[in-house]
Formats: sequence, C-alpha cells, structure tokens
Amino acid sequence: MKNKRILLIMSGGIAAYKCLELIRRLRDKGAHVRVVMTRAAQQFVTPLSVSALTNEKVFTDLFDLNDEREIGHIRLSREADAILVAPATADLIAKMANGHADDLASSVLLASDKPPLVAPAMNPRMWMNKATQRNVSQLEADGVRFIGPEVGEMAEANEAGPGRLVEVPALIEALSKMPGIAAGSEPSDRSHSMLKHGGLEGLHVLVTSGPTHEPIDPVRYIANRSSGKQGHAIAAAAQAAGARVTLVSGPVNIPDPEGVEVVRVETAEAMLAAVEKALPADVGIFCAAVADWHVASQGAQKIKKQKGAAPPKLELVPNPDILKTIATRKKGRPDLVVGFAAETEKVLEHARAKLASKGCDWIVANDVSAGTGVMGGDRNKVHVVRDGGQVSWPDMSKVQVADALVGAIVAELAKKKIAPAEKERGKKARGK
Ligand SMILES: Cc1cc2nc3c(=O)[nH]c(=O)nc-3n(C[C@H](O)[C@H](O)[C@H](O)COP(=O)(O)O)c2cc1C
Repeated sequence: MKNKRILLIMSGGIAAYKCLELIRRLRDKGAHVRVVMTRAAQQFVTPLSVSALTNEKVFTDLFDLNDEREIGHIRLSREADAILVAPATADLIAKMANGHADDLASSVLLASDKPPLVAPAMNPRMWMNKATQRNVSQLEADGVRFIGPEVGEMAEANEAGPGRLVEVPALIEALSKMPGIAAGSEPSDRSHSMLKHGGLEGLHVLVTSGPTHEPIDPVRYIANRSSGKQGHAIAAAAQAAGARVTLVSGPVNIPDPEGVEVVRVETAEAMLAAVEKALPADVGIFCAAVADWHVASQGAQKIKKQKGAAPPKLELVPNPDILKTIATRKKGRPDLVVGFAAETEKVLEHARAKLASKGCDWIVANDVSAGTGVMGGDRNKVHVVRDGGQVSWPDMSKVQVADALVGAIVAELAKKKIAPAEKERGKKARGK
C-alpha cells in the first residue's frame, strides 16, 4: 500500500464514521488518501475530521471553481491508483448503475477510467429491495467489484440482516487486491467467498452437502439433482470465517473446498454415520438433499430384464432422518442446528412445518421447482425461517447465500454471547 493513491468516495450513511478508522489504517500503511464526500456524507462526519486525518483538502463540490482549475473531477479519479466507495448508499449505487453525474461523487465515478471497489452499507430492507439488487447486478455486470455488505445487527434498534459495512481490515485487504494496488493480482470475484471478517474461530462447523445415492442393484441407484454447490459454498464460507469445518458430502462433481475436511459418503445411512462420527460440533448445517427412501432389498447382482415378465417392483423403506436425529439429540446437539428445505410448492408453509417437526433452530427454505434452476444451478433465493420470524433474501449467487448465512450465524452466536474461544476452553474442561 506504500505510496499508493487511494480515492475514497464517502456517501451518506451511518457507517461513514468507520471511514475515519479506515483512513488512519491506510495512512499507517503508507497510502495517500484523497476523499470525496457527498452532501449527505457531510451530515454524518465533518469534512474537517476527514481532512485532519488525510492531511488533504476534502472534495465536496462539483462547481468549486478553484478545485476544478486545480484538480477537477476528471483528474481526481485519474490520479488515483484505486477508488473505494465506502460507505456506498443505496442512492449512490442507483446513480452509478444509471450513469448519473449530478454531484462531485457521481461525476468522478462516471468519469473514471477504472472500476471502483464498492462497499455498500444500508438498512437490510434497502439492500434487499429489488431496485437495489437490480442496480448491484447491473454494476457487477459492468465490472464493478463489491465487498459486503455483511449480515449483522444494524445501528437501528431491532434490525438485523445483510447491510453492514464490512470491517476496516477486510476493506483494506480487498483494496490491496485491486488492480493498480497489487500489480498482477486480480481482486477476488464473487465465485469465491468474500468473508474475511472471522467470527467462527475456535468453533467446529459440520456441513452436509450434495445428494445421496440409494442403490437398487450394483449398477443402478436412486438419486436427485443436487449438485452440492450450496453446501460446499457454505463449508468454504465457514472456513473463511475461521471455523474448523467438516464437510460430509454425497457424490458430487465439484472440487473440495480448500482447508476443509471432506468425508465422502454415498447413502443416507452412511451420511448419518459420518455425521455422528464428526460430532461434537458447535454448528450443524444440513444442506444435503438426502433421499427419503432406500430400496428395501437391493439386488446382489444386476437385475435382469425377463422376457415377457413385468418390470420389477421396487419396495421403498424410509431412510434415517439425519436432521431430526441430530437436532433432537439429548447429548452432543450442536448449539445451532440449521436445516435446508427444498420445496416445489408452498415453500414457506412447508418450511414452517419442517421447523416444528425437526427440532432444528433455523430452516433455510428454497424453491427448487422446475424453472427456478436452483437444483444444479449457481444461484439461489432462500427464506430463513426461525421461531418468531422469517427473512426472505433476494436472488443471489450460492456463494453470496453462503456468505450471508455464515454472517447470520456469526451474528446469532454473538447475540447468544457465545465467545468461541471461551466456549472451546469450557468444552475441554467439561471433557466434551
Ligand atoms: C440517519 C440517517 C441514516 C441513513 N443511513 C443510510 C445508510 O446507512 N445507507 C443508505 O443507503 N442510506 C442511508 N440514509 C439515506 C441517505 O442518507 C440518503 O439516501 C441520501 O440521499 C444519500 O445521499 P448520497 O448517496 O448522495 O450520499 C440515511 C439517512 C438518514 C437520515
């Protein structure tokens, strides 16, 4: 970061105060920081404070004759090695997506020759609003990089969800990977977890993923269309947040997430055995699409077609219910048990019924009916259902869903005041 020139564009959100710390840390690393503030940003933090920290004039006015002569809105962006928009309001994101240039911040961004890094911060409803999501998708398609928002408690009382500005160290790390800052290193894209904030250190997270295969005979089996993409992304996000992760996976054709212990299984019975063996865990996330039934008597040899005879009848018997078995354990139940519900109709109604019948803490329900492309696809739209409420997240990539879910888990553990390190120590003391 030494001698790198960062242009920080601040818009008007409560999280603007975090930029004071950000500027200090960037300057500690030897960066030169110039700041553009929107009129609204100046309601939250004074240009005087920002100027004192940057040791530079703060730029606020598009029509400032002196500034236009000396530096100007074009040079402001051209003279920067990287541009960071933080906090990025819903309003500024909308202006960027639509090419507005009616103030200094939006004019600089429109005149820029480099895509900025954008760190949104806003109320969860504003973030999840279709208009904001549409604007974000448009900007992503235009090559703009986003970091965050994180899921957690909002400054407003009783509000939680995706919308928090990512913490300063994560902002600096993402900035350090921008072209112009780290030559030759591309910033990580949305196909990898952007979670860098930790929060699960010292905890063991158990995740199941993929389908199960239930044999009919040595060559045939009953399966489903699960790809494992969502479960694997969750395992990767939990690992990125600092957890030790065990991933029990059915047969899939995708790579193992890095730094995660993977146990491969085929059937539901084998999955349950592997899950029980991996316990104790602090958090259990049961994302696998486990077959409900297996064939009562599997053929020891390939079942042959008999000329003139009726096709064989398959008798199905129930598989163990992995989610319920773990969620209702008297001893060694994870503190937080999250189940997934793949539904093709009455998604929320079925999710509520599943929450009640399985004994788990949260159900993440997704609509997997034909035409949604969720099974096997890269995107997902989920509803997180829990006792006393539900939140519906917008359509996102499965990696973003994983990041948001892990962020929500971190926030939940913090709310329960479970300090991971203390907890781990307590467990050892109890000989768990
Ligand atoms: C107390 C208060 C807090 C606000 N916090 C946010 C916020 O965190 N994120 C956001 O997108 N807008 C927030 N707003 C609304 C923006 O300030 C408003 O949309 C403004 O027009 C944004 O202008 P700008 O994008 O030019 O900075 C807040 C407004 C108020 C009054």
